[in-house]
Amino acid sequence: MAAMWSKVIAILLLFLRLARLSSSSSMVFELRGNVYPIRQFFVTMSIGEPAKPYFLHVDTGSGLTWLECDAPRQSFHKVPHEVYRPRPSNRVPCEDERCAVMHKDLGSVHDCTEHPDQCDYDINYKDGYSSMGVLLTDKFSLPMRNDRPNLAFGCGYDQQGEKEELEVDGILGIGRGTGDLVSQLKHQGLITENVVGHCLSSHGGGYLFFGGDVPSTGVTWLPMAQEYTIYYSPGKVTWNLDVLLKYELSKTPRVAVFDSGSAYSYVHKDTYEQLIQAVDVTLQDSTLQKVSDDPELTQCWRYNQPIQSVDDVKHEFEPLELTFTHGANQVTLDIPPENYIVVTERGNVCLGILNGSEHGMGELNIIGDITMQNHLVVYDNERARIGWVRASCDIMPRSAPIIASRL
Ligand SMILES: *[C@@H]1O[C@H](CO)[C@@H](O)[C@H](O)[C@H]1NC(C)=O
Repeated sequence: MAAMWSKVIAILLLFLRLARLSSSSSMVFELRGNVYPIRQFFVTMSIGEPAKPYFLHVDTGSGLTWLECDAPRQSFHKVPHEVYRPRPSNRVPCEDERCAVMHKDLGSVHDCTEHPDQCDYDINYKDGYSSMGVLLTDKFSLPMRNDRPNLAFGCGYDQQGEKEELEVDGILGIGRGTGDLVSQLKHQGLITENVVGHCLSSHGGGYLFFGGDVPSTGVTWLPMAQEYTIYYSPGKVTWNLDVLLKYELSKTPRVAVFDSGSAYSYVHKDTYEQLIQAVDVTLQDSTLQKVSDDPELTQCWRYNQPIQSVDDVKHEFEPLELTFTHGANQVTLDIPPENYIVVTERGNVCLGILNGSEHGMGELNIIGDITMQNHLVVYDNERARIGWVRASCDIMPRSAPIIASRL
């Protein structure tokens, strides 16, 4: 009898476990784009009534989602889709809680005296790009769901930046914050956990997920630093080249930020100078010759023949290492050559780690898409930690829990 009961209980427990797995909501989105030449990864989201598709650049370095918007526009870029047309009834009033939260995330003043009927925003990015607009709500289509929740996002009518033509219609700002899209989805009960993850393939494309169970094995976790609340940062890092030679590139540890909105990685000028010297030493016996190429990529080399792909040239370079100090422990992120070099359209190979001091990054080390390729990178806001594990990003899982069980 007791044996039978234990069997019944075991089956019940299994059912409960399965029920929990299927109700643990997650959303997986397909990503397109690449590090070079597109310089960004983006999702397609269907927004509005009727639903229309828009490309949104995935940015874990900022917390506001916005679209180029016909408001009427003052300064704008050419975008791939017909520009989003807001309706006056979609406007979020200034006194709305969502407006207060957005200003808190952006670190701006929430003042309703001038325009009480709308929620103005002004967002400035590290690279000098900016968007001005108003907060709206509209319906968003989500993967594998029929209901379309109303989410708040920005309608940008004045965009400043160097490029005239964009590959995307706007930005999916899923950085640390309380008013970002993922926080809104959790608030509305559409996902159970505020977790974001991405897997960027070195072949281009990949996937992004919100919510779901966090992979439990194989992941290297670091707590998010408390003192940098606007960025996803596990604190300070040092850079090294070639594990065997222990070529130290940075003597002063500096804050590292994981930022999917940045195609390349950026280091402080002192580290950058060391890096260039160290790479030159590595390439001494190679037939690669220095050459100038893309104005953005300042360290490039060529063979006599044009290089076809990163695979043809990566053997010339040594792996890099990023070392995080966490209490008494050291945690490293290995960076194989394919995660810091690119092959350009002219067939040259260039460093994809750039001089951050020249691009206004100050003391920050930006870990961009290039360095996060072929890793599942997880931003776990529930437990305030960041994790990564090597992964193939070419096959899209159907839901985040499946990612967990495959690892
Ligand atoms: C990096 O940028 C800084 C600031 O613009 C500049 O002074 C420095 O010379 C640059 N370093 C290299 C190696 O290009």
